[in-house]
Amino acid sequence: MSEAQSVTARAPGKVNIQLGVGSVREDGYHPLASIFHAVELFEEVTVRPNEPGTGITIEVSGQQADEVPTDESNLVWRAAVELSQALAEASGARMRQVPDVHLAIHKSVPVAGGMAGGSADCAAALFALHELWGAALTPADLARIGARLGSDVPFCLHGGTALGLGRGELLSPLMVRGRFTWVFATSVEGLSTAAVYRAFDRMHEGRDVAVPEPDPRILSALIHGDPAALGKALCNDLQEPALSLRPRLRDVLEAGMSAGAFGAIVSGSGPTIAFVAAPDRAQDVAVSVAGDEQVRAAFLTSGPAPGARVVRRG
Ligand code: C5P
Repeated sequence: MSEAQSVTARAPGKVNIQLGVGSVREDGYHPLASIFHAVELFEEVTVRPNEPGTGITIEVSGQQADEVPTDESNLVWRAAVELSQALAEASGARMRQVPDVHLAIHKSVPVAGGMAGGSADCAAALFALHELWGAALTPADLARIGARLGSDVPFCLHGGTALGLGRGELLSPLMVRGRFTWVFATSVEGLSTAAVYRAFDRMHEGRDVAVPEPDPRILSALIHGDPAALGKALCNDLQEPALSLRPRLRDVLEAGMSAGAFGAIVSGSGPTIAFVAAPDRAQDVAVSVAGDEQVRAAFLTSGPAPGARVVRRG
């Protein structure tokens, strides 16, 4: 076993540069061709052992902490249970239902914002617990456990820029030259991912929608490190469904474009809006949207960012 008394791990939020969605599968999920891009905005999770018999406890600090549950409905609770069960099975030990562990989440990624904040918590929790418990699973084992917890968790473990197929969990890394500057405008109110997928279903009712291929213009823009070409090619099949639920977000998209962004997109299932911009225009883009009454906050960041990693041991 590891000697650590506490371990802190980080995992990044993401934007989907392309989010191609096909008709809903029999299991209720939609087949995707998703180009995930991790950005320099990290969730941090610190774990430490609890007194025997205490079970799992969760505390949350940081951005929108009051909107995040601290009971078993928080995904990190299931992350702790699933990882401890997987480790017990692997060692042939008697299965324990609930480990005695405290998880402290520090949030930076918007809640219910389409940037995989909950999945990043889950990825950071898996990574931190894996280290705390001195386990030796492979990255593929951790990704398999992550995929059971949420479609975006494997990418939050992986980081960088990657093509995600299946329901987003089958990942292949993509080549990227240099870095891209992003501006994000978060919303005053979150959107439910499931509700946005249902809006997608209503819009395509009666049609069999095939999953699109990854867009060669995007792959080329990434390889050449060309933000102007990337901006033109951004594409999200959940954008119209998300805008059907929040029509006034169109104003935010348009304001950022008028301020000189290369491209604008709803991030994942929304409602966060993402702009790709030249480094010397990004501040103007952020200022142009910050005053909109839909916008909670506008900030600059960049990508790609690394995946889950341990940042401190106590
Ligand atoms: O996998 P996760 O729990 O993050 O997904 C949240 C919800 O989003 C699912 O319950 C499902 O309604 C929808 N979803 C989907 N197809 C995907 C990913 C998510 O329909 N590929």
